[in-house]
Order: sequence, then structure tokens, then C-alpha cells
Amino acid sequence: GTTIPIAPEAAQPDRQQPSKLDECRRCTLWEFATQAVPGIGPQQAQIMFVGEQPGDQEDLSGQPFIGPAGQLLDRVCANAGVDRETIYVTNAVKHFKWEPRGKRRLHKTPAQQEIEACHYWLDKELAQVNPTVIVALGATALKSVLRTANVTLRNSLGKPMRVGGRWVVTTYHPSYVLRVPSEEAKREAFNIMVDSLKLAHQLLE
Ligand code: URA
Repeated sequence: GTTIPIAPEAAQPDRQQPSKLDECRRCTLWEFATQAVPGIGPQQAQIMFVGEQPGDQEDLSGQPFIGPAGQLLDRVCANAGVDRETIYVTNAVKHFKWEPRGKRRLHKTPAQQEIEACHYWLDKELAQVNPTVIVALGATALKSVLRTANVTLRNSLGKPMRVGGRWVVTTYHPSYVLRVPSEEAKREAFNIMVDSLKLAHQLLE
């Protein structure tokens, strides 16, 4: 019989190795998000903040940490004497995961497989920026950066870790600080974030 030639597949986009973040289909979060939110900041920054995932305002604007959590982060930077513009700011997961609650979109914690799927993009950012210190904001970021759930936020606060030739400093997630009910405990958590950033800055010397 006749042999029908099969067209080369080279022109097909590779779903596992997407070239553009906004075209990523490595997990299913893209379906419900407005857009992917890439990191922002100097491409040679010495400090990298890693958050969890974009929130409602970040999803709509396309920029990380511009909503309430971002404003708290601004205050942390100001109090630590570090210019936020010198820091590369990104998230472990690049699409907003949410569930409807009335008219609002309520944040949902990303699943382990979503964090793992998104390592692809965090690794690209780490390779490009090559920061000396990563500041992991909260438990999801810590899990993502360390690639293990065996280290808790509580146990690593204030103790820099040496990971793959870089420093990793753990601190609270700014949204956690915003949710702390008592004013005194909130101030304490805020101060811990300030101290963590000062520590990250000292590690550069
Ligand atoms: N929370 C995050 O973890 N990241 C953002 O970009 C905004 C809120």
C-alpha cells in the first residue's frame, strides 16, 4: 500500500514547555484567571521576594503585590530601609486561584501539583535574576523554594538557610499579618517581617 507521510510536529506548541507565561497550560489555573502575573523588578536584583500567588487585584492588573498585601510589603521595605524597587518580586504560582463567595473572588491556597507545575517559571526567574537571597513570604513560598514541606515557617523564622548556593530567609506572608486580629500581635508580626528583610539585606555583605 501507500505510505502517507506524517507532517513534522515541530510547529506544534509544546504544552509542557510553553515559551510565554500567559500561554502556560502546565496546570488548570489559567482557565479561571484573567492573566498570568510574572515577576517584576531589576533583572539583576540581589534580593528576590517569593509570594504565594497573585490576588484579586494582581490578577486584574497583571502585576504582583499591588493590592493590600503589596501595600503592607511596601511598609515592610520602608521600615527595613530597603528600596522595594531594588527587589525582584514574584510568586510561587503565577495564576490566581479563587472560588466565588457572593460577588467576591476568594483566594484558595494552591495545591502541591500547581506549585510543582509552576516551578518551571520560578526556575527561569531564578536563573535570570540569580539573587543572592530569596525571601520566602509564607508557607507556600517556603515549600516551593525548598521543594519540600519538611521545613516549617515557624522553625525557620530568623534562621537563614543555604540552598543551592543561595540564602533563603523565611518570613510571614503579608496577608497573614493583615489578618492578625489583635493590634499588638499584628505589630509584632510586622516587626518580624521587617527584621527578616534586614537580615536578608545583611546577608548581601
Ligand atoms: N499575595 C501574594 O502572595 N502575591 C501577590 O502578588 C499578591 C498577594
